[in-house]
Amino acid sequence: MYARLIGTGSYLPGTPVTNDDLAARGIDTNDEWIITRTGIRSRYLASPGTTSSELGLIAAQRALDMAGIGATDLDLIIVATSTPDFIFPSTACLIQAKLGNKGAAAFDVQAVCAGFTYALGIAEKFIRSGSHKRALVIGAEVFSRILDWKDRGTCVLFGDGAGAVVLEASDKPGIMSTAMHADGSQNSILNVPGQICGGQVTGDPFLRMDGQAVFKFAVRVLADIAEEVCQIAGIQTGDVDWLIPHQANIRIIEATGKKLGVDRSKVIVTVDRHGNTSAASVPLALDEAVRDGRIQRGQKVLVEGVGGGFTWGAALLEF
Ligand code: ACO
Repeated sequence: MYARLIGTGSYLPGTPVTNDDLAARGIDTNDEWIITRTGIRSRYLASPGTTSSELGLIAAQRALDMAGIGATDLDLIIVATSTPDFIFPSTACLIQAKLGNKGAAAFDVQAVCAGFTYALGIAEKFIRSGSHKRALVIGAEVFSRILDWKDRGTCVLFGDGAGAVVLEASDKPGIMSTAMHADGSQNSILNVPGQICGGQVTGDPFLRMDGQAVFKFAVRVLADIAEEVCQIAGIQTGDVDWLIPHQANIRIIEATGKKLGVDRSKVIVTVDRHGNTSAASVPLALDEAVRDGRIQRGQKVLVEGVGGGFTWGAALLEF
């Protein structure tokens, strides 16, 4: 029994915001610095009041349309997000209600930029166990809400968006292997250290990052976990048809591809147009490459993410 991917969808809010647009808004930065260090040319930023559940809902509807099933056919809904609408209920429950599904298990996963790969691995295990038949897995973020727009070292890197996939129990492949890991001792190099106390956010509610430490950690674990899922599935990393790494920074993506011996032409890149959309980055890139016809049925696709915690996860699937 496999968990087979039968639909993908995504959604980006509004219109692209370029690096020059950010400079024009008063951020002390420039297009050349951002492109050279990160590869990012533009990102999408949700309008005030727009929530992760709104972005995730549209991505989910598009994935369900491609899958050719209705929301009432789902028995599992998992949303990966670090920018939920509320403390609770979960964003998954809010999307479930908007979709008109009742009865499916619905919950959020919080593993920051690795969140989608964690959620995918969890859904795969539910389906492989036989307990659930049709899962909706969403990555949805409004990261712009947790950025310090006065910190030019971080605010230029991120964007908002959502991506989703529908999985179905099938005797055809299918997700071949998954892996998830974390190292909580690295919690200080990327975090949002605010707390809720007495109904108020106390401390610092914005994203803080040691960019160089994150860079080194990300390249190492993205290479390691890609090797791991390939080894479990009994293939070499060079045999994958498509590599979809977390879209944080073109230099991390290129260094990872090089370490794995995966040709640049097989690496899906959207970071130039989306920025880092955290848990949404991998399903956004996957949906783009499925819809433009690059990813074909029967091909091997390796998706992988890394994020605050630190957390990292991967899945190797035959599309
Ligand atoms: N525009 C112009 N100048 C800037 C900007 C900016 N947006 N941001 C920083 N600078 C300046 C700094 O002030 C500094 O100036 P100084 O030398 O006069 O002090 C100079 O640029 C160099 O700053 P560094 O922080 O040392 O730059 P670095 O080369 O490390 O690049 C970057 C920063 C791009 C963040 C890099 O460390 C990186 O790519 N790290 C990976 C982190 C990442 O991608 N995180 C995403 C989230 S994590 C995840 O998704 C897993």
